[in-house]
Order: sequence, then C-alpha cells, then structure tokens
Amino acid sequence: MLTQLQTDQLKIEYLQPIETAKETENSFDQDIKKGLNECPKKIPSKYFYDDQGSQLFEQICELPEYYPTRTEASILRQYVEEIAQITGTCELVELGSGSSTKTRLLLDAYDKQNDGFKYMPIDVSAGILKESALQLQQEYSSLEIQGLVGTYHQALTQLTPTAWPARMIFFLGSSIGNFSETDYDNFLNKIAHVLEKGDYFLLGIDLQKPKSILEAAYNDSQGVTAAFNLNMLAHLNHQFEGNFDVNCFYHQAIYNEEKKQIEMYLVSEKEQEIVLKNLDLKVNVKKGERILTEISRKFDVEETRDKLESKDLNPVKVFTDENNWFALILCQACK
Ligand code: AVI
Repeated sequence: MLTQLQTDQLKIEYLQPIETAKETENSFDQDIKKGLNECPKKIPSKYFYDDQGSQLFEQICELPEYYPTRTEASILRQYVEEIAQITGTCELVELGSGSSTKTRLLLDAYDKQNDGFKYMPIDVSAGILKESALQLQQEYSSLEIQGLVGTYHQALTQLTPTAWPARMIFFLGSSIGNFSETDYDNFLNKIAHVLEKGDYFLLGIDLQKPKSILEAAYNDSQGVTAAFNLNMLAHLNHQFEGNFDVNCFYHQAIYNEEKKQIEMYLVSEKEQEIVLKNLDLKVNVKKGERILTEISRKFDVEETRDKLESKDLNPVKVFTDENNWFALILCQACK
C-alpha cells in the first residue's frame, strides 16, 4: 500500500488498484456506454459524486423529508453503548465513511469504554478522508486512525487480519440499498469472507413503508434531490466532454411497490442527440424517455436477517426506531 500521510497515530494509505490501468480505463468507459445503450437507459449512480454532488448529498441528509439520516442517527444515539458493550474493544472499519457525523457517536461510545480501539475509515475520496481523519485526530487525541483510499471492493479484498481482539465493519445510511440484488449478494459474500469468526458487521437498512413517505423523501420540496440527480449530467459533461443540456431533462423519483425500490430517473423534455466526445459515444434520446440513475431498495427486517444468516453472519440484535422506519442489524461472523 502506498502511504500518503503518516504521523504517530494517523496513517492514510491508498489501496492497490484491482485491475491494470488499461482495464480500469476500459471498464470506466464501458459502464456508461453499456448503460446508455440499454433499454431503459441507465447511468451508474457513482457519477453522482463529484464535489458538487457530494455537497448536494450532504444537503439531502439535512432535508425535513429525507428521514433516513436522522432516524439512523437517533437509533445509534439510543443504542450505541449497547453495541459497544456487545462487541467489546475492537477495530472499527467504516465503509464509505465520507465526513459522517454518525461516526462520532460510535467513536464516543468506544472511547468511553477506555479499552482503546482503532478506527479505519475507507472512502474513494482521498480529500474527504484526509480532512475528516485530521479533524477526528484533534477530537480523539489517543485514537489510532488508519484511513484507506479505495472502493469497497478493493478494501474487502485487501484488508489483512486485525491485531485487535475483534473487528467490526460498519456500513451505514442504507447505502446497501443502492446495490442491485447481485451486487448486494456479492458484497455480503465479501464481508463474510473478510471477517474472522467472532468479528462483527453492523448494517444500516431503510425499511419498507408507505409510498407517500418514501416518494416525499426523494422528491423534496426544495428541489435538492432534483439538483443532485441533474448534477450527474453536468459531471458527465465535464468528465467526458459531453453535450447534455441539463435544462432539457427533469428529475423523477417513484416507488416501485413490486420491486420495493425507489427508482430515480432523468426524463428527456425533447428528442435529442447526446454526444460524449471522450467516449466516442453518440446516442439518441426520445422525448419523454427516462434514464435510470439510481435504485434505492427498501428492506424487510426478517428477510434481511435470513439473508445475513445464509452468509454465516448471525444477527445478534436488531435496533429500530419507534416508527420502524429504519434498522441497524448487528451480526457476528460464525465461520
Ligand atoms: C446514498 N444513498 C443511501 C441515498 C439513498 O437514499 O438511496 C442516495 C440518495 N439518492 C437520493 N437521495 C438520497
């Protein structure tokens, strides 16, 4: 691993690329090309997250209609000490850490135990990782932090065994809801593979609820989610020399009750030709045609418990809020 920053207590390292540079370049092109040639057209959700997109997402988390962030935080506030008591001292590995404030709730609870612990944030953005690690180091002076820059896939294939009595990987915010069924399954396989017997996995999931509450959360009255969705086109224009006219698309988010998922689309206001010069790509989009930019699956606690159990991740305890809108499932690896 290439070390980017190192002090006594803080280290930021880059995870190894999985493919060769050439293959990475190709697969990067391929996902857009493939998606825009499918029916319905798709653009992978990872293109939401340029600087502007990350800022808009932070704003989404504060919206009155977007209940997942504050509901998950309230569950953590209520039960985090119990979680720390169950796992005992450990190495805390956070997937997709960003600049999360929820992390502090966990760090506070483990800090109170006075047995020491280590924090390993993992994020694709080196900038955000460094900034939040330096900030945390000031707040928790004796905390050992080892930040890893890379994707979940890189992290879960490259984590080496921990020297701490146990490890807890946590994946909050119901980010798992943005995975397809296949990616969800593969992701849990990787988690189960990297954890040793007795290690823990803490998973945050958004639960199924009435359509009106779900659709309001993804169609907020201030239009922040719409701006977040449309920003993807500006990002693609910038990255691939594209000609998307952001004003000729509008945001749509609907709850698909059959698939139990929110689907976010960009709908074309008119017939248009899209060109992404750097990808040598030209596609026609019809008036009213929709491009799928995100799915956000909503879960059922029992089904999720069964799924985790099938991966030898035994649910130890499920924590929910009073409305049963969101759940945190603490599991322990039993193999
Ligand atoms: C990151 N992820 C869990 C969010 C969600 O709710 O699926 C992304 C999001 N998209 C629109 N609003 C929030």
